Amino acid sequence: MGMHSIFSGYIFFFIIHLLFLEGMSSGSGLDSSKCDFFTGKWVKDVSYPLYRPEMCPFIEREFRCQGNGRPDLIYTHYRWQPLGCNLLRFNGQDFLKRVRGKSIMFVGDSLSRNQWQSLTCMLHSSVPNSNYTLDRVGDVSIFTFTDYNVKVMLDRNVYLVDIVKKDIGRVLELDSIKGSKLWIGIDMLIFNTWHWWSRRGPTQPWDYIQVGDKIMKDMNRMQAFEKALRTWASWVDANIDPSKVKVFYQGISPSHYNGSLWDEPRAKSCNRETTPVIGSSYPGGLPRVESVLENVLNTIKKPVSLLNITTLSLLRKDGHPSIYGFGGPTTMDCSHWCLPGVPDTWNQILYNLI
Ligand SMILES: *[C@@H]1O[C@H](CO)[C@@H](O)[C@H](O)[C@H]1NC(C)=O
Ligand SMILES: *[C@@H]1O[C@H](CO)[C@@H](O)[C@H](O)[C@H]1NC(C)=O
Ligand SMILES: *[C@@H]1O[C@H](CO)[C@@H](O)[C@H](O)[C@H]1NC(C)=O
Repeated sequence: MGMHSIFSGYIFFFIIHLLFLEGMSSGSGLDSSKCDFFTGKWVKDVSYPLYRPEMCPFIEREFRCQGNGRPDLIYTHYRWQPLGCNLLRFNGQDFLKRVRGKSIMFVGDSLSRNQWQSLTCMLHSSVPNSNYTLDRVGDVSIFTFTDYNVKVMLDRNVYLVDIVKKDIGRVLELDSIKGSKLWIGIDMLIFNTWHWWSRRGPTQPWDYIQVGDKIMKDMNRMQAFEKALRTWASWVDANIDPSKVKVFYQGISPSHYNGSLWDEPRAKSCNRETTPVIGSSYPGGLPRVESVLENVLNTIKKPVSLLNITTLSLLRKDGHPSIYGFGGPTTMDCSHWCLPGVPDTWNQILYNLI
């Protein structure tokens, strides 16, 4: 009996040892099979946030909620806790060392800008005495950590596919992805598109939509999104060399304009929400677009890692600027996120995946 337990103890130790070695040698490989970082809950942790907003003078006004007068701060003191494992705390110096000499580019709409600003802020605040430059070339913003030769960029490209000016007007071409020329040679790409697909009226930036040779005034927006995403997926398969380039998809960032979805039917927005939804699941469930995205990602042959941030962000009805965003008290923003805030967790997970 004594022998037996010593023996099984050995086997146990041996297995742990193997797991440990495997974890070490897989290095950059994604171990998402071992740990699901995206299922978990928000816990209070006074060691958060990771930075003070004053440390990042370049945070744009629309995300600078405290600077715009947001009075409550509890929402900044939450940490994401996966159910089955722990996330490493974000270490900016380690991040910069790992990506030394490399270029990172976020491609997408203002939710990409939200995550890009969060990452530059998390990195800068961890090396505050290190020089940086912030430039803009066309639609690309370039934040360079000169001492590390690291570029963290944002390519504003809200649909990923092209809008082309023609005689009849501006045409959204679902099969055309010429904007991709900016993505060649980048070491790490993080894509996103979704929020602009439902846009109509004066802020819709196109007049016609084109699929193949067919030009239409409009079409089902979910189908349009899916077609564009397939165009992007084909581009990834044709152009990405996985030994050189890491590709991520940011996932669907949710909005909070309907309290019925978080069991507060009287709430018409995220205004005055100061705490997250308790627990691991969101009463309103996932947005319908989630399955479209999942289907398209499943068709890609090259490795693309999904930052499946939807549920963890759905739980954060308290994380949006509300009236402390870009438009001041007359505008209600429950789509973007305050910084410091929820996108810091998206980047913490990104850090854990690289
Ligand atoms: C930062 O830049 C300034 C001016 O270009 C230079 O004098 C200084 O040595 C740089 N600091 C570091 C840490 O490289
Ligand atoms: C809010 O969500 C509920 C539950 O899904 C739905 O019945 C209702 O129509 C939604 N309200 C608005 C304004 O979209
Ligand atoms: C994200 O994860 C949820 C489960 O938490 C899943 O239902 C959903 O399909 C995933 N999203 C994508 C795009 O794969």
